[in-house]
Order: sequence, then structure tokens, then C-alpha cells
Amino acid sequence: MTNSSALPKSVAEVSAALEKYGYLADQGLATVIFLALTLNRPLLLEGESGVGKTEVANVISQWTGGKLIRLACYEGITSDQALYEWDYARQILQARIIEIGSNGLDVEDLYSEKFLVRRPLLQAIDHANEVPPVLLVDEIDRADDEFEAFLLEILADSSVTIPEIGTLKAKVPPIVVLTSNRTRDLHDALKRRCLYHWIDHPNVEREIAIVRLRAPEVSPALAQQVAEVVEVLRTRNLSKPPGVAETIDWAKALWALGAQKITPDLATATAGAVLKYHEDNEMINDEGFESLLAQAGERSVSR
Ligand SMILES: Nc1ncnc2c1ncn2[C@@H]1O[C@H](COP(=O)(O)OP(=O)(O)OP(=O)(O)O)[C@@H](O)[C@H]1O
Ligand SMILES: [Mg+2]
Repeated sequence: MTNSSALPKSVAEVSAALEKYGYLADQGLATVIFLALTLNRPLLLEGESGVGKTEVANVISQWTGGKLIRLACYEGITSDQALYEWDYARQILQARIIEIGSNGLDVEDLYSEKFLVRRPLLQAIDHANEVPPVLLVDEIDRADDEFEAFLLEILADSSVTIPEIGTLKAKVPPIVVLTSNRTRDLHDALKRRCLYHWIDHPNVEREIAIVRLRAPEVSPALAQQVAEVVEVLRTRNLSKPPGVAETIDWAKALWALGAQKITPDLATATAGAVLKYHEDNEMINDEGFESLLAQAGERSVSR
């Protein structure tokens, strides 16, 4: 897509475009992305770590050519950090110059756009492009309630009023993608405003396809076995079940070691690519990779 009027015409077009940029969405995700773009609604994506939430914003930006503007949320984030603040240090310097009276400037000039520090939300709302930027509000669940309420206000208006300057509003509103790991529940008001989609781990066929797309050097047989073993790993009670990124990493690690298929020894040696907690590693070692690989093999045959 090269301009804002070039909206996708179908869900299939969305799927194909995302795939072109290396992302394989299932029907549900492709549909909700199509709707978010067509109806111009923010898209709220929830799901476990590593299921591809943040990457959705990345690929939409690559596809549409809209600039990616990322607001990473964290505990205690405030509107100053998200929207705008005044460049206090420069204002002080300028105030000194005014005091000296050497440049004919007025104190009012201290609150002009020149001294405005534009944070991600303002950049996304007050942009000069024909192509809307993609605003990624990443991990909104980490921010607190007040920030969520503030964000809701901004999203509702898609404009910002700065008392000293006036109201700023873009010709074309940004495409907004919010992600959450669900460390806390978000408010209904925010959810109501957005189109919501829960991203699950992909099924094994899709995950094989993702590995093939993202790590084309890896042999098809190894890509398949890695995805199958990861599927079994996710049925264990792990503190951090492997995400898609881990599956890709594991396949690449095994391939780098010259593996054609996973053996218990190779799995143990490369487990760090896929298991990120010491306790998880111990649990799987206690069970033994042998039985895990066998189970994955049985599933594969019965599929
Ligand atoms: N459907 C997919 N198609 C292609 N690649 C994918 C897909 N899902 C995930 N990936 C890969 O997995 C990586 C991790 O995805 P991403 O960072 O978006 O996960 P996340 O859900 O945001 O995780 P976290 O909650 O930890 O931030 C991506 O960089 C991408 O390489
Ligand atoms: Mg993420």
C-alpha cells in the first residue's frame, strides 16, 4: 500500500501482504487486521510472550510504508513521557538570552514548537505524511490505570491540545496497534474502543511454515521436527513456554551444528535456545529429551 486510500480489499490480500514481509497470520488474525485497517480502529492484541504480537505492527509498517512509531510502556510511565514535554534546559538558556536582551525574543516564545519535545504519541498524531504512521503501543498492561485512561482519551480524539500552542490533529489518523501480555486485565473502556484479538501459539503446520519462512536454510525435515518437539514442550508445565522466536532460534542453532535431525544429545546441548528458565531446563532434563522426542515422533506419525 502506498497511500491512505489504498486500503486492502480482502482478508486474503492482508494475508498475502503479511506473508510477503515474513509473517504468517491465521484467518482470525488476518481478518481482524483487515477490519482494523478498513474501519480505522485501534487493534488490541493479547497473547503469551513470543506469539508475534509486536511483529504485527512491524510488518504492517513495512507493508504500508507508514513510519513505525513505538511507545514502549512500563510501570510509572506518564503522559510527559508518552506525549510531549517542554525542553526545560533549552528554555532556561533561551530565557537567559532574553534576559540579556540580545535577540529581541519574548518570554512567550519559550513555549513555541521549537522547545517542544515530541514523544511517540504526539509524533503519531501530529504527522505531516500522506501515509499514516503505525503507532505501536507495546505492552500496555505494564502501564498503570491512569495511563490507560489517558491513552483512551487520546485514542478517542486522535488529537492533542497543548495549551500554549493549540490543538494538533493529523490529516490522516495513525494506524494503532496495542499489545498486552495480560499481566493484568485491561479496562473494558479501552477494549470497547479497540478491535480485540487473542493470538495463540500457532498450530504445528503453521509453525513449520513460519520456520521455513524465517530460517529458509534449515532443511524441511529438521524444521518439522523442531516445531513438533516445541509443540510437545508447550504441553509441559513450563514457567516460560517457548514462543515462535525460540522455535526459529532452536532450528537455526541445530542447523548451525550440522544437525539433520534432533537427537537427545543435540537437544540437551542446544536447550538454551528454547528453554529460558533454569527450572524449566531441570524439569525437562528430569523427564529426559528421549521421551519428549519419542512423543513428538508419535504425534507426527498419527497426524
Ligand atoms: N506468525 C508469525 N509469522 C512469522 N514470524 C513470527 C510469527 N509469530 C512470531 N514470529 C517470530 O517471532 C518473533 C517474536 O515475535 P514478537 O516479538 O512479535 O512476539 P510478542 O508476542 O510481541 O512477544 P513478547 O510478548 O515477548 O513481546 C518475531 O520476531 C518473528 O520472528
Ligand atoms: Mg512484544
